[in-house]
Amino acid sequence: MATGQTRVFSGVQPTGNLHLGNYLGAIRNWVDLQYRYECLYCVVDLHAITIFQEPKALRDSTREVAAGLIAAGIDPRRSILFNQSQVPAHAELAWVINCITRLGWLNRMTQFKDKAGKNREAVSSGLYVYPNLMAADILVYKATHVPVGEDQKQHLELTRDVAQKFNNDYGVNFFPEVEPLILGEATRVMSLRDGAKKMSKSDPSDYSRITMTDDADTIALKIRKAKTDPEPIPETAASLSGRPEAANLIGIYGALSGQSRDQVCAAFAGKGFAEFKNALADLCVEKLAPIAEEMRRLRQDPAYVDSVLREGAAKARALAEPILREVHDIVGFLRP
Ligand code: AMP
Ligand code: TRP
Repeated sequence: MATGQTRVFSGVQPTGNLHLGNYLGAIRNWVDLQYRYECLYCVVDLHAITIFQEPKALRDSTREVAAGLIAAGIDPRRSILFNQSQVPAHAELAWVINCITRLGWLNRMTQFKDKAGKNREAVSSGLYVYPNLMAADILVYKATHVPVGEDQKQHLELTRDVAQKFNNDYGVNFFPEVEPLILGEATRVMSLRDGAKKMSKSDPSDYSRITMTDDADTIALKIRKAKTDPEPIPETAASLSGRPEAANLIGIYGALSGQSRDQVCAAFAGKGFAEFKNALADLCVEKLAPIAEEMRRLRQDPAYVDSVLREGAAKARALAEPILREVHDIVGFLRP
């Protein structure tokens, strides 16, 4: 690794409600990491506008997501929590990275293909270079470790390619090799309505996801309505293959209770899903309700949330600016 120290960076988009997939795939791990490493967590509003956002809704979602992160346990005294647009270095480095990344690399990005669908000619150019901005987010801090859900793996491979090409092109050993951290039993939480689709903020069905603001009754209802199959729970997780909805609920239970899928299967072996869903609903409520409660409280105090983001951004700028200045020197820009 080019640099000796561990620095953690991750981001989340302020587009709509945080959900259980965000929590289990990412945010929960962010909370654990802050006790061991220097961590930066970013609400990526620049990424959000790659698809048009109503300005008022964007401001609101930025505060909501920041409140969600704080409520979930991100401690602004330990971690640097901020929104991306307050740190101009992200967008500035992204330009340099636009000039490093090859079109061929971007053309392979599956998230772009999914988001653009058949409408490739009509989406924004920002959506296309989205992975370059993501690489800039990470590299502008020379972050070494990036905790994300499985869906971000390909973007992180591109980040590694960018870092390597920059180092090669300029004959330097400047950017580190970035390691993805894909942790836990639920790195890809699936929709509650369709085991072939990931749980996402943009799914039109509310019943597809549990959000971090759902109350106890809503959580229980959504889990009761979740799609399953009539087979009982097997003794080992290996026997869940071909049963994506069942595997998903077992994985969620495991992630929330700190058990492996095998342990969950062993505990419920032979039971039907009606019974299992009751236990899962109780567990979800136990883990999520306190977070929802704290989020509601923080939503009443936007001045506090804004002050956290402002102070976080000042700390982030102080880390990013010297690194960006070095990039300018390496590339050959004249200093002001
Ligand atoms: P996003 O909502 O796309 O900004 O994602 C924020 C973080 O949550 C990223 O690290 C994603 O990989 C993670 N994430 C999003 N959806 C899921 C999901 N369904 N399962 C697991 N992780 C997810
Ligand atoms: N692309 C990520 C997502 O949609 C969000 C993100 C932006 C990110 N920049 C990042 C994640 C940097 C990790 C590191 O989930």
